Amino acid sequence: MTKTVLVTGGNKGIGYEIAKRLLQEGYRVLVGARDQLRGEKAVAELQAWGDAQLVLLDVANLQSIEHAVRIVTDQYSELSLLVNNAGIPGDMHKVGWEFDVEELRATYDVNFIGPFALTKGLLPLLIANHGKIQNVTIPIEPLTHFNAFAYATSKAPLNVMTKSWGMSFEQEQLPVQILAVLPGAVSTDLNGNMTGDFVKMPAEAAEFIVSFLIDDKNHNGQIINYDGTPIVYG
Ligand SMILES: NC(=O)c1ccc[n+]([C@@H]2O[C@H](COP(=O)([O-])OP(=O)(O)OC[C@H]3O[C@@H](n4cnc5c(N)ncnc54)[C@H](OP(=O)(O)O)[C@@H]3O)[C@@H](O)[C@H]2O)c1
Repeated sequence: MTKTVLVTGGNKGIGYEIAKRLLQEGYRVLVGARDQLRGEKAVAELQAWGDAQLVLLDVANLQSIEHAVRIVTDQYSELSLLVNNAGIPGDMHKVGWEFDVEELRATYDVNFIGPFALTKGLLPLLIANHGKIQNVTIPIEPLTHFNAFAYATSKAPLNVMTKSWGMSFEQEQLPVQILAVLPGAVSTDLNGNMTGDFVKMPAEAAEFIVSFLIDDKNHNGQIINYDGTPIVYG
């Protein structure tokens, strides 16, 4: 049976490189993209590495999520991997109290509500196929050099979901795993293509992220830091 993965936000940045890396691993890759033209362009390029197909998916839009869940369930019922990669940072320079509610909500929709709804919708397939869910995430502890309020507060529930669902999968003895990976700082459009000694390129980040999917180890419930060690929250 064809190994099939859905990568959200697969049209550029880290998601594009994850898609490429998984194609090299022999996966059929469903490239989730919210924009048809950007998605088609990425898929046309990715087809050089294998079976890449476009699934239109705006994770900020519940109807779009429902539609994508239907398409995947009807046409790709062998799906065994979901990578929740699509994400936005919100304004990374404002202090917390400068945000208004709508700005926060927009960030939460993309970084948590969307991934929650999509994962819930695809869970029956992922369980049936003994699959994995991988969330691409960030540190949520404010740091002096990185204190992005909307970004961190929107990824925090995704991290909780990783731990909480991981625990429930174990308790319910469900044959599915969930894990999250923090790639560290990566030069992409999300941060104005930042540079620096500590900044990875997207292909390097994707190699790191995908390594935890293909190492045949059980990472259920883990949030894996950029140095490869699991994070323990107090
Ligand atoms: N870059 C870093 O330093 C870093 C570090 C840690 C974690 N991450 C995480 O890595 C993931 C990928 O980020 P990136 O750095 O690769 O950023 P990026 O280059 O800006 O790519 C973000 C991707 O998400 C998509 N996206 C945004 N909103 C969407 C929506 N509503 N529905 C569907 N897709 C949507 C974008 O699509 P469009 O092209 O249509 O905008 C794009 O494909 C994010 O979850 C981010 O939080 C990044």
